[in-house]
Amino acid sequence: MSTPIQQLFDLRGRTALVTGGSRGLGLQIAESLGEAGARILLCSRKAADLEEAAADLQAKGIDTRWVAADASDPAQVNRVVDEAMQRLGQIDILVNNAGATWGAPIEDYPLEAWDKVMNLNIRSIFLFCQAVGKASMLPRRYGRIINVASIAGLSGSLDVKFIAYGTSKGAVVNFTRTLAAEWGPQGITVNALAPGFFPSKMTRGTLQSVGVDKLAAAAPLRRIGDDDDLKGAALLFASAAGKHITGQILPVDGGVSAVHGAA
Ligand SMILES: NC(=O)c1ccc[n+]([C@@H]2O[C@H](COP(=O)([O-])OP(=O)(O)OC[C@H]3O[C@@H](n4cnc5c(N)ncnc54)[C@H](OP(=O)(O)O)[C@@H]3O)[C@@H](O)[C@H]2O)c1
Repeated sequence: MSTPIQQLFDLRGRTALVTGGSRGLGLQIAESLGEAGARILLCSRKAADLEEAAADLQAKGIDTRWVAADASDPAQVNRVVDEAMQRLGQIDILVNNAGATWGAPIEDYPLEAWDKVMNLNIRSIFLFCQAVGKASMLPRRYGRIINVASIAGLSGSLDVKFIAYGTSKGAVVNFTRTLAAEWGPQGITVNALAPGFFPSKMTRGTLQSVGVDKLAAAAPLRRIGDDDDLKGAALLFASAAGKHITGQILPVDGGVSAVHGAA
């Protein structure tokens, strides 16, 4: 007996914790999961931005709460997960999206920048998965984990000098596969999105220095990402429609990685 497609993509009754959910790609993913029916808890550092993002989602009819925390601090990660369990009762979907970058040539790359990028982009994913796994997913034998990697985790980059970022995203790719192998038998899927270029606060500088036209020209679809382009892929990984998919890395990049590696 097959299940109707609307039911496979329906997230009513599910809850999602989205890190870095106050703007950019995290907010887009939160909107997608919320529009499909999930209750949402956003987490990032700045309370004012979270309040604004939550109000935007609420205005669209999405049940949204938020908690301010630094995802690279282990004590704060545990606090977020405790609060999420209190306020949502369970965490069905974990979106590890919070991330940062730092641009500098390797020979001048500050150690503090390396640590900052690595602590947020990969160590915090480990911390969130461990805490959410223990608190909710492993006991319930159910979970959907979506890590936000990047096409910069799939190859080197010609135009951008960001050694820690590329390294951290490569780590996210194989963290995803490794965790998928370990937690698959527990009913938990673990997948990653690998976005190409999307306009956001993080990419503003690169988009200005390299140019939207040049980045778009590198893509078979001749475009960069927009406010809709991650929604379908995120929902697939988060929902019953994706229940037989785990350990996969999905580039959402206009085809850049199919022809060039990262731009
Ligand atoms: N935009 C792109 O083209 C692109 C491409 C590939 C991959 N990505 C990835 O997509 C993810 C989101 O990027 P974005 O472009 O949407 O960037 P963004 O606009 O800068 O958003 C980053 C989000 O993470 C939060 N954040 C930053 N540091 C944090 C910390 N220490 N603890 C908790 N939250 C923190 C920010 O809020 P606060 O500053 O208030 O904490 C914000 O909500 C990142 O993992 C990025 O690497 C982006």
